[in-house]
Amino acid sequence: MEIHRAMVDVQTLSLPRVRNRTYHVLGAAALAANKLRYALLGYRRPRDFSPAQIDRCVKYDFEVVDNWLAYLNTYLGNPPEINGKNILELGPGQDLGIGLILLAKGARKYNAIDAHDLLAQSSEKFYEALFRRLETDDLDKAVVDELRRELERTKSGQNDRLNYLWREDFDLSVLDGEGVDFVLSQAAFEHFDDVARTIKQLNQVIRPGAVFLAVIDLQTHTRWLRDLDPLNIYRYSDFYYRLCRYVSQPNRIRPVEYSEILADNGWENIKVQPLAVLDSDYLRKVQSYLNGRFSAEDGQMEYLTVVICATKK
Ligand SMILES: C[S@@+](CC[C@H](N)C(=O)[O-])C[C@H]1O[C@@H](n2cnc3c(N)ncnc32)[C@H](O)[C@@H]1O
Repeated sequence: MEIHRAMVDVQTLSLPRVRNRTYHVLGAAALAANKLRYALLGYRRPRDFSPAQIDRCVKYDFEVVDNWLAYLNTYLGNPPEINGKNILELGPGQDLGIGLILLAKGARKYNAIDAHDLLAQSSEKFYEALFRRLETDDLDKAVVDELRRELERTKSGQNDRLNYLWREDFDLSVLDGEGVDFVLSQAAFEHFDDVARTIKQLNQVIRPGAVFLAVIDLQTHTRWLRDLDPLNIYRYSDFYYRLCRYVSQPNRIRPVEYSEILADNGWENIKVQPLAVLDSDYLRKVQSYLNGRFSAEDGQMEYLTVVICATKK
């Protein structure tokens, strides 16, 4: 696996104290509590902040698109051509802001598929704020009005250029033959139940030469624990982790495994770029407390967040 290091800032996280035994107990309790909470309430909050924080949600979507374009620029060696392209986002979450921004940038079509229907979380006010921002970004009013109509069509079940689907089984075969040019994903792959199947199914959906980009958050997701102990989820045996299985539980798949799955399915020029890493001192202190499966050197346990890019043969 090749590590790509140009033009992307890498954050290094330093943590003051490591209390391995305490964190082990706390994390084990958190996994069990999550199992109970998700069984009772289901999957609800895809982000760290509320959908009611409208300006923050709008800013988030614009930043995700800007970051994707910057990563693609680094990966491709030139600015990506979005104009006229067919895009697929895997795991869009609570709103279609990213799709609308990509259509505003000239994409021919935006498809998105999710295993959970979370769109009801985003209000009219969110979309109005997003359209206002597009207008202030000097987008022609007629284009913004057309995007408003696309959104209305999608909401009434008549997908057109803004094609949103959700299916509990996350079966991508409904998109067979779409001819997708870019597969994009933000903080979602780490939740997928069957990454190998998802990547295999992409073969029926994409064009040769399609580009894949996924930002993957490899850390503990339980919010109060991740800042204390970002590698907490890797402490547990496979048996205990599976016992506590809950909907959207992080799958603990490491970058090298994503790369292997992509290579097995005909993707090449696979590059893994860390976006956030742990400092080596902290890693040294926790490494021997992790599940042995995560101690191998190619586990690259210092990687907390990565972007993986690849190109289809
Ligand atoms: C952390 S959210 C990220 C959403 C969005 N990309 C964002 O950045 O706000 C994770 C996404 O993965 C989806 N997801 C969770 N479990 C999944 C699964 N087993 N299969 C497919 N998607 C899943 C969620 O519905 C959600 O859209």
